[in-house]
Amino acid sequence: MQAQAKFPEPPSNDKRWLLVQQVMRKHGRSEHALIETLHAVQHSFGYLDRESLSYVARSLNVPLSKAYGVATFYQFFTLKPPGKHTCVVCTGTACYINGVPELLAALRERYGITIDETTPDGELTLTAACCVGTCGLAPIAAIDGKDAGRITKQELLNKLDEVLHGHD
Ligand code: FES
Repeated sequence: MQAQAKFPEPPSNDKRWLLVQQVMRKHGRSEHALIETLHAVQHSFGYLDRESLSYVARSLNVPLSKAYGVATFYQFFTLKPPGKHTCVVCTGTACYINGVPELLAALRERYGITIDETTPDGELTLTAACCVGTCGLAPIAAIDGKDAGRITKQELLNKLDEVLHGHD
């Protein structure tokens, strides 16, 4: 078995890079490992920036343009750091016909953001998910990973208010 070359120097001493390297190794450290590796970076750091894309590209020996192309093609990758808090709204059909447009309008009015945007103060990021599999509870929104079903726009605004201003 051929020994693999050492990894290039990661962008920082952050231990999370060791996890990313593990994923690259596990997937053969080739171009085929690109998507899994980008997933690992996003999962570990929350987003993909230029430095991390460049590191992954060098480690897997793929052109930076290819890594960047994959990162921008798939909706589940984000190139910007997420806000301190996240609100994910399910935009699957059941949720959509059960009130998601009202939820999104309320969020736009209160926070000035729409899907895939973060408030200018970096506190809240709004994203969308396709059907999360609990259509009977539509509409669904998740705040900081906690799902809330049959949520009204007022309940959503109240929960966000609590999360954003309730403590610290
Ligand atoms: S459409 Fe939202 S959970 Fe299925």
